[in-house]
Amino acid sequence: AEVVIVPDRAAAGALVADAIAELIRTRPDAVLGLATGSTPLPVYEALRDRLAGVDVSRVRGFALDEYVGIDADHPESYASVITREVVEPLGLDPSLIQTPPAHDEDLAGAGDRYEAAIRAAGGIDVQILGIGTDGHIGFNEPGSSFASRTRVKTLTAQTRADNARFFDSVDEVPRHCLTQGLGTILEAGHLVLLAFGEGKAEAVAEAVEGPLTASIPGSAIQLHPHVTVVVDEAAASRLK
Ligand code: F6R
Repeated sequence: AEVVIVPDRAAAGALVADAIAELIRTRPDAVLGLATGSTPLPVYEALRDRLAGVDVSRVRGFALDEYVGIDADHPESYASVITREVVEPLGLDPSLIQTPPAHDEDLAGAGDRYEAAIRAAGGIDVQILGIGTDGHIGFNEPGSSFASRTRVKTLTAQTRADNARFFDSVDEVPRHCLTQGLGTILEAGHLVLLAFGEGKAEAVAEAVEGPLTASIPGSAIQLHPHVTVVVDEAAASRLK
């Protein structure tokens, strides 16, 4: 992976947004892989300026994951988050932006349907990724197969505690999710993993430099030929 150390979140957002805006200018129907959580927010923020005046009417997008067990219109569902943080501020066509169909009646078939939709779009051009303190990417928690596809997973206690800040209490954080698999993520054309803060330093070092292991799902990025890791000094502090 190419590791880029930036001074702060805003610099990371600017760097990644420049690349995405350039992609959209050259390929107006680009397919974006959209992460949620706190980490990608500076990218989405920086894209507002950069996409002003750019034709985004054909931009397509697929979210990495979605909670199972809260309504689609819950403010913290990733469908709501993507609408609020990405689709509306950037003026994207909501019909071209999908989140994993975790609210479908047929949840067992939902993963395959999402995979089919990504395939039908021709695959994801650039996949934005955060990383969990337990080393997850998407919601592929430790123990996930490197060959995994979109499926229902159980969130670890650590991930639920980490995400409690988005809910009234940890008890309200869903226990399950529908997430792109590691195999799905590895098929994107370009992976851009961002991480900020001391709390991510260990996970970043293990993902980028540690052995390939299902215990650190983020280490799967080492199998991909085109990865950019954008980190601040604190998140880079355990890299050798
Ligand atoms: C979100 C996702 C997760 C987050 C990770 C870090 O779509 O797939 O892997 O990227 O949990 O979350 P934050 O950015 O909130 O620290």
